[in-house]
Formats: sequence, C-alpha cells, structure tokens
Amino acid sequence: MSVVVRGTGRYLPERQITNADLEKWVDTNDEWIRTRTGIHTRHMLAPDQATSDMATEAGRRALDDAGLRAEDLDLIVVSTLTPDMLTPSASNLVQANLCKGRGIPSFDLNAACSGFIYGLQVVSSLIESGSYRRALLVGAESLTRFVDYEDRSVCVLFGDGAGAVVLESSDSPGGIRGIRLGSAGVHAELICLPGGGSRRPPSIEVLEARDHYLKMQGNKVFKLAVQSMEQVARDTLGDVGWSIDDLDLVLAHQANRRILDAVRSRLEVPDAKMPLNVDRMGNTSAASIPVLLDECLGEGRIRSGDKLMLVAFGAGLTWGCCALEWA
Ligand code: COA
Repeated sequence: MSVVVRGTGRYLPERQITNADLEKWVDTNDEWIRTRTGIHTRHMLAPDQATSDMATEAGRRALDDAGLRAEDLDLIVVSTLTPDMLTPSASNLVQANLCKGRGIPSFDLNAACSGFIYGLQVVSSLIESGSYRRALLVGAESLTRFVDYEDRSVCVLFGDGAGAVVLESSDSPGGIRGIRLGSAGVHAELICLPGGGSRRPPSIEVLEARDHYLKMQGNKVFKLAVQSMEQVARDTLGDVGWSIDDLDLVLAHQANRRILDAVRSRLEVPDAKMPLNVDRMGNTSAASIPVLLDECLGEGRIRSGDKLMLVAFGAGLTWGCCALEWA
C-alpha cells in the first residue's frame, strides 16, 4: 500500500501587488526587489477574504480534479501560520464549507513555510496506519495581513494563496517514498510574529511596537535556508536510494530566487528540473509547494512514474523534504 496524490488544486486571489505598488507604500524600488528576491508581483486577498476562503476554493478544485466530492473525504488538514483566528482552526471552517453537517475530523498544522511537507508526513502516516483512507491537505496563507507595510525588508517578500492535494491509499505503483522533517527552535527569533499570542496578548503596547507583524533577520535566515534545504534533500534522497540525476522535477519552497538559485547550484540540479513561480507569487509559505505542483501538472510537466523531490524551509526554524513517485 502506498499514499498517492489523487488530485490537486490552487486558488490565488485576483488582486496583484506589483513592485511599483510597493514603491508607493515603502521606500523601495523595483530594481532592488527584483535583484535581491526575483519577485515581480504577488497576490493579495480581498478585504472580505480570509485564509479558510482560499483553502476552501483550492480544496474544491483539488476534489474536482480528483473526480471526487467532499463526501468522499475522511479527514481535512490545513497547514497554515495565518489562520482566520486563533480558534476555531482554519480547517474547521474549511470542513464547514465543504462538508456542511458531516462530522469528519479537521485540524490545522503550523510548521510555517515547511507546513505542506509536515502535512504530507502527518496525513500519509494517518492513511498508512489505516485510520483514514482519503484526506484533503491544504497549504493556505494570507501573509499580506501579517507583514508590516512600514518594514521594507519584509513586506516585499510575501504573497497570499492556497494549494491543495487529495491524498489516498493506493495499491498502484508510485506514491510517497520517503519524508524527512527537521527543526531548530533555538533559531525561533529569526522569523517571528511576537505579539497576539499567549506571551504577549493583544494590547495597545503590542500594537504600538508593531509586534503584531512578522519580524525577520533576513541575512541569517538566508544562510540557514540554503544549508538546511541542501542537507535535508541529500538525506531524503539517501533514504530512498535516489540520486539527483534520478529526479525529474524538484519543487522547492518559493522563498526567493537567490535562495532557490543557491540550493539548485549546491545540489547541481539542472535549471529545467527546478521550476520557479516566485516571480509571480512571492513567498506564499505553506501554499507555495502545492501551488507550484498544481501549476506544473497543468503545464503537463509531470507524468506517471516521474520522480519528484519537494523541499521546504521556514520559520521555527523548520525544514522538510519528500521524495514522491508520481502515480
Ligand atoms: N528596498 C530597498 N532597500 C532595502 C529593502 C527594500 N525592500 N529591504 C532592505 N533594504 C536595504 C536595507 O535597509 C539595507 O540598507 P543599508 O545597507 O543601508 O542598511 C540593504 O538593503 C541591505 O539589506 P540586507 O538585509 O543586508 O539585504 P539582503 O541582501 O540580505 O537582502 C533579503 C534582504 C530579505 C532579500 C535577504 O536577506 C533574504 O532573501 N533573506 C531570506 C528571507 C526569506 O526568504 N525568508 C523566508 C524564508 S521561508
């Protein structure tokens, strides 16, 4: 028995924020953003939208792609660090939207930008254990709500969106071959949203300090991102006995172009095997890999039997890698 991806879907909000838009809001410029990050534009959710709305739509599209209905699901998991509210979870709201009165379990998982790979590990293990047969896993984020449009070093990087996969048990060849996860909480302060939680609940002081926004030490994050992604990729390939040459496609978390270039060159992955959409999306955190996967499938870049490597890095710090043979 293996765990396979039966369907995929994505949802990106209509509104796009270009570098020219950002030039009007903060002291930045298109040239700086393009050369340092490779980002040209990113999506931003509408004022009346929240993470669960995007997750629901991506989930619907993944179900359609799979030729299934919500009634066919046993479990819903949403990976996100930007839920609609602290409780209920975004997945509970997605479950209400998709399943109406049916009582299947749903929960959120927060591993920041590595959330989709963490979700793959958790959901595939639950399916392998026999507890569930079929699950919806969504990576969904609305980071434009949590970045400070007075902090030019952070606000230019992030965008909103959602990507979803339907995972199920299968007897056919292919599926998830191996997953490695890791974390380093000792570096928690490098990417951190300090206010609004139990340590510093919402208050005038938190708002005045702008601590309800994401803070990041970009330089330090950059180096650790490259090192961690390279290492976890090598370890995962070692686990499953694949070499870089065996891979048909590497879907890496779209943090920024320079990080991706560095990872690609260290692993010696040919350009053509490592698709990018960071120029159009920015960093969409847990949504980035499932959105990219859905795009690549739409472009006919993935065929049955292809060997894929999905690799991510994020706040926490966290990292993860999945070796997947397309069924
Ligand atoms: N526009 C113009 N100038 C900017 C700017 C912006 N948007 N953001 C920062 N700068 C300035 C800084 O103020 C600094 O100016 P100074 O030298 O006068 O002090 C200068 O650019 C260099 O800043 P620095 O932070 O050293 O730039 P950098 O080369 O490290 O690039 C990042 C910044 C954020 C692009 C880079 O560190 C990075 O990509 N880090 C990883 C972030 C990431 O992907 N995090 C998520 C991981 S999941």
